[in-house]
Amino acid sequence: MPTRGEPVLRMQGVSKEYVGESPCLALNKVSLEIFPGELVSIIGPSGSGKSTMLHLLGCLDKPSGGEVFLDGRPVSKMSDNQLAEARLYEIGFVAQTFNLAPTLDVFKNVELPLIVREVEAKERKRIVERDLSVVGLSEKARSMPSQLSGGQKQRVAIARALVNDPKIILADEPTGNLDSKSGQEIIHFIISLHKNRGITVIFVSHDPKIAAQTDRIISIIDGRIESDVRNKRKEGGN
Ligand SMILES: Nc1ncnc2c1ncn2[C@@H]1O[C@H](COP(=O)(O)OP(=O)(O)O)[C@@H](O)[C@H]1O
Ligand SMILES: [Mg+2]
Repeated sequence: MPTRGEPVLRMQGVSKEYVGESPCLALNKVSLEIFPGELVSIIGPSGSGKSTMLHLLGCLDKPSGGEVFLDGRPVSKMSDNQLAEARLYEIGFVAQTFNLAPTLDVFKNVELPLIVREVEAKERKRIVERDLSVVGLSEKARSMPSQLSGGQKQRVAIARALVNDPKIILADEPTGNLDSKSGQEIIHFIISLHKNRGITVIFVSHDPKIAAQTDRIISIIDGRIESDVRNKRKEGGN
């Protein structure tokens, strides 16, 4: 897979300490580079720091030490506005729990990031319809999230992540709440976005079957990278 050009995401000596009642060093001086168009999985046991790492890569949280670079720009030097823009335009985040607004129908959930961006109504409609069609849910536009299966909810979350044409998709255990068949469909789907659009994809998972489908597997334990390897035996091959 291509590893050319400058890294789209880079961590340099990044640590994350949670303070409070039970202080915890969740990440311990982690350095890594993610290049444009890579398909990567981050694996490790529960509590090893996977979500913490993904949140930091997604500019959703700030490190206690070290630096995260997005397209070469140090995240710590970015203003709140610039961070909000980066999250809106560059990064699509897909979570285990889908994070849909329960009182909004499918169409309105997918439309939300476009409203934040102040896209005009007609254009919003065009983009929402485009991306609902991409995830195969055109017929469900007026359904409420509660009327959907888990796999369908995750497709809505993916459509919502796609409306701003992100360069990067970060998926935190996207199949954690799905049965294995719908889970596999979601993984295939996200991988097809990587293949067809060159989107950089990072999956967090503790499922070796997901990691086996990615080109690069980063394993973390106790907040440190234990291994970072090319997956030469990728399922389905290249
Ligand atoms: N908001 C938080 N406050 C305090 N501790 C946290 C918080 N989030 C995570 N942790 C702790 O940090 C460590 C790593 O958590 P996390 O990144 O969620 O791991 P994983 O996603 O691999 O299960 C765990 O020990 C967890 O308990
Ligand atoms: Mg987690």
